[in-house]
Amino acid sequence: MTKKTRKILLLPGDGIGPEVVAEVKKIINWFNKNRSLDFKMEEDLVGGASIDVNKVPITDEVFYKSLESDAVILGACGGPKWDNLEFSKRPERALLKLRKELKLFANLRPAICFKQLVDASTLKPEIVSGLDIMIVRELTGGIYFGEPRGIEPIENNERRGVNTHTYTSSEIHRIAKVAFDLAKKRKNKVTSCEKSNVMEAGILWREEVQKVKDKDYKNVELNHMLADNCAMQLLRNPKQFDIILADNLFGDMLSDEAAMLTGSLGLLPSASLGAKDKNGKIRSLYEPVHGSAPDIAGKNIANPIATIMSLSMALKYSLDLPKESDLLESAVQNVLNEGFRTKDIMSVGKKELSTSQMGDAIISKLK
Ligand code: IPM
Ligand code: MG
Repeated sequence: MTKKTRKILLLPGDGIGPEVVAEVKKIINWFNKNRSLDFKMEEDLVGGASIDVNKVPITDEVFYKSLESDAVILGACGGPKWDNLEFSKRPERALLKLRKELKLFANLRPAICFKQLVDASTLKPEIVSGLDIMIVRELTGGIYFGEPRGIEPIENNERRGVNTHTYTSSEIHRIAKVAFDLAKKRKNKVTSCEKSNVMEAGILWREEVQKVKDKDYKNVELNHMLADNCAMQLLRNPKQFDIILADNLFGDMLSDEAAMLTGSLGLLPSASLGAKDKNGKIRSLYEPVHGSAPDIAGKNIANPIATIMSLSMALKYSLDLPKESDLLESAVQNVLNEGFRTKDIMSVGKKELSTSQMGDAIISKLK
């Protein structure tokens, strides 16, 4: 029997990106060898690393490679070295281009508080212990991409900055469906956030989400909440939530907040998914929620778990390997259970590992 080949494109990017993606590479190699799978890995430049060599944050060639892969795993984009570049040339544009042009409209960001790490949170243990929420963030619309946009001179030597927040009903429907479908596999409960008290686009969001529920998801519990209230409730009582559905900008902010509830940005993966194409394939990009962390780059101290958990999401959502996904997740759990930590989540009495040692420890638990 011939093995099914799965193409994975690795885009390590900037800062700690290359270090954490290197650990993912080791794990993929382990799977190839020990689970007789046939992953074909390719690696290429993105973000500042691409600017340095090619003068652009992502080349067309890399972009087309990402179109042809079964999953793309990205490390991180950006850093102080490129902060002074003109907006359209900055490393982050690579990420936004990939999201927009691969049409990755659904961003799934789990915030799970590992019981072994409740003490790492700045919140009281009883508030966060056992926390398991999923933020479903719209990723290709809203104020991130709306037109008109820009900075323009106006009278009296003043300047005006403009961005446009816009959503159509179909854009809202497709992301709402992702949230409701996911709800069926979780606690059957969705909280949808907007600012319908001040924004027309917020009213539309609320009404259209409600329509989708009334039509096709009668058994899913839906609550609407103003986004500012949601930010507050996340700190007051985060366990009231299961799935939080939000637009691009609110989802960006709420997911950072939710991530920090868990105490460790270094553990949280994310998946960005598109619609099914003609061949039934879903385009996808996986990345850790954390950024490039330039202050600790190159020191072999970054936590690779968020990126490794991103691989686990890829195995589940894009590569049709749920067993391998579970295997990897339990390997991570086992390593934490045994008291192994990277510097960011280190506490008294635990054993500190470097980035590469953490990758090795997880591999040793796969066996
Ligand atoms: C994120 C990041 C990005 C965003 C930046 C790097 C463009 O904050 O993925 O949450 O704002 O979407
Ligand atoms: Mg963000």
